[in-house]
Amino acid sequence: MEKRCVKNLIFGLAAGIAGGGITTIGAILGLTTADAIWPAFAIGAVTGALVHHAKQSITDMIDNRLGTLKNRVEKIRRDIGDIHGLVRLGPYTQDLPLPMGGGWALTGDSAALLAREVLARKPETILELGSGVSTLILGQILKRNGRGRLLSVDHDPEWANQTRRFVEFLGLGDVVTVLDAPLKEIAAGSQAANWYDIPKSSLDTLGAIDLLLVDGPPQARDNPQAARYPAFPVLRDRLSAHALIFVDDASRKTESKMVGRWQTEDSGWHSQWFDTVDGVCILTRK
Ligand SMILES: C[S@@+](CC[C@H](N)C(=O)[O-])C[C@H]1O[C@@H](n2cnc3c(N)ncnc32)[C@H](O)[C@@H]1O
Repeated sequence: MEKRCVKNLIFGLAAGIAGGGITTIGAILGLTTADAIWPAFAIGAVTGALVHHAKQSITDMIDNRLGTLKNRVEKIRRDIGDIHGLVRLGPYTQDLPLPMGGGWALTGDSAALLAREVLARKPETILELGSGVSTLILGQILKRNGRGRLLSVDHDPEWANQTRRFVEFLGLGDVVTVLDAPLKEIAAGSQAANWYDIPKSSLDTLGAIDLLLVDGPPQARDNPQAARYPAFPVLRDRLSAHALIFVDDASRKTESKMVGRWQTEDSGWHSQWFDTVDGVCILTRK
């Protein structure tokens, strides 16, 4: 009985080893036949597609989250810039019906920089291209300076009217004039552009410009040329000897290229760049 068991065990083991060997050889031979290539290829392709899909989904998810995070950081950056500026502008903004310009207005930090220049330089004449909350801040500072006039032009009659209403409301009518200046095609330098149609008589009445604020017209989305480029070629000869040009939105490529073009066309101007939320460039004569 015991002998038979041992015999059966040995026989079973031998059969198992032989069977395993035959199975392995069969598998190797099977895989090397042309028939096995396509199933193996299909399995490889499906696995590859699954891995690629999973990777893509994860990448998209990370991109989405990064995009949201970037937007939030940008909003916080803008808010901090605004708050910093508005705190510094406190004495001139207490009566202002803020917010008024939304995303279009000079941000607080840029407005504070502008206020600093106007308080320090006490300009007699300011020409502003693009009216809004900046018009009201400038008006208040001119009143405080006790001298100076501001001519603010706007292409949008409704917007100009709204600015005018606030100018009256704040009692700034004696130092601020808001002028309607529809956009008209003009030749500026080597380029044709839609720019403010400012009556010559209004510019003559204003006299030599001590401070030129370039914050309009709005940049057309489909126009790679800077909408504000004509400001310098059109007004250059009207700028006073100690004039300052304040360019808002200077961190935009169109605006930085525009300033570069101005300086190429007239090398007599020095530029100073400020890292405010939308960027500012101040140009003064060398
Ligand atoms: C950059 S904005 C000028 C902003 C102004 N300098 C200020 O700081 O408030 C240029 C032009 O955009 C137009 N604009 C201003 N705010 C706007 C708004 N919230 N919606 C539509 N157009 C606006 C006006 O015609 C304005 O002259």
